[in-house]
Amino acid sequence: MSGSLDGKVAIITGAAKGQGLSAARIFAEEGARVAMLDVDDAALAAATAQIGSPRVRVFACNVAYADSVQTVVKAVADQFGQIDVLYKNAGTNFRCFGPRDDSQDGGTHEVTEQLWDLSTRVNRKSVFLIGKHVLPYILERRQGSIINVSSVAGPFTGAPNHVYATAKAGIVGLTKALAQTYGPDGVRANVIAPGVVATTMMDRVLNDPAAKESVENRNPLRRLGEPEDIARVALFLAADDSAYVTGSTIVADGGYLVF
Ligand SMILES: NC(=O)c1ccc[n+]([C@@H]2O[C@H](COP(=O)([O-])OP(=O)(O)OC[C@H]3O[C@@H](n4cnc5c(N)ncnc54)[C@H](O)[C@@H]3O)[C@@H](O)[C@H]2O)c1
Repeated sequence: MSGSLDGKVAIITGAAKGQGLSAARIFAEEGARVAMLDVDDAALAAATAQIGSPRVRVFACNVAYADSVQTVVKAVADQFGQIDVLYKNAGTNFRCFGPRDDSQDGGTHEVTEQLWDLSTRVNRKSVFLIGKHVLPYILERRQGSIINVSSVAGPFTGAPNHVYATAKAGIVGLTKALAQTYGPDGVRANVIAPGVVATTMMDRVLNDPAAKESVENRNPLRRLGEPEDIARVALFLAADDSAYVTGSTIVADGGYLVF
């Protein structure tokens, strides 16, 4: 074990499942103390049991709401004494398999204003909110790494879910602004843009053999991403290995964009 995160404290949002859960495990193995934030209490409880490390603690938090974020960030800072890494991974695409209804994302002509507001809050405003409340702690230490999560859908490809695509494209712009503004204070900010990763968010692909095969065949690496594929990129961005990397977007998509 290299311990590339020894001495660091990391907050990971959306850490109860998928990519965030994988990152929490790997970050803890690499020596970090990890605050796992998620809105899903039951999944958080299962996640800590699964990781089984004294270095992780869970915090129920809905990152879309300022009061929840503010309370939890203070609790993390009080319990850990510092914050060095903020991995803003929480998100959801509001798109289910099958016929769409008003609770789902879709094309501009069919999306309701309510869904626009909800998805924008969860997928974009949340990124601002937790950044706002964590930055004072990172700035105090004059060092830190912010990792934002976008997608290939939005900044790089078209997408059928217009609200999600808009949010994910906006995250790239915000990250460049963070890198520019806070770089002189020792803070780095970067984006991970995953391709199709085998998590609950992609159930509709995983449960449809034809759709799954179509993604696999399009990818030069001929497979979907696994949560750990993305978590390893996050580890690089969290650790001092990436000390000279800021304002960048790392696409981790098995070559999907090459097609
Ligand atoms: N899976 C993919 O193919 C894919 C592709 C591109 C980008 N992404 C992005 O990767 C990130 C991680 O997604 P995943 O694939 O691990 O999905 P996932 O559904 O397995 O995990 C997402 C986690 O975020 C949590 N979450 C959702 N809304 C929240 C909120 N308001 N507050 C706190 N926690 C919340 C969920 O409870 C869940 O534990 C997301 O930002 C997603 O948009 C995923």
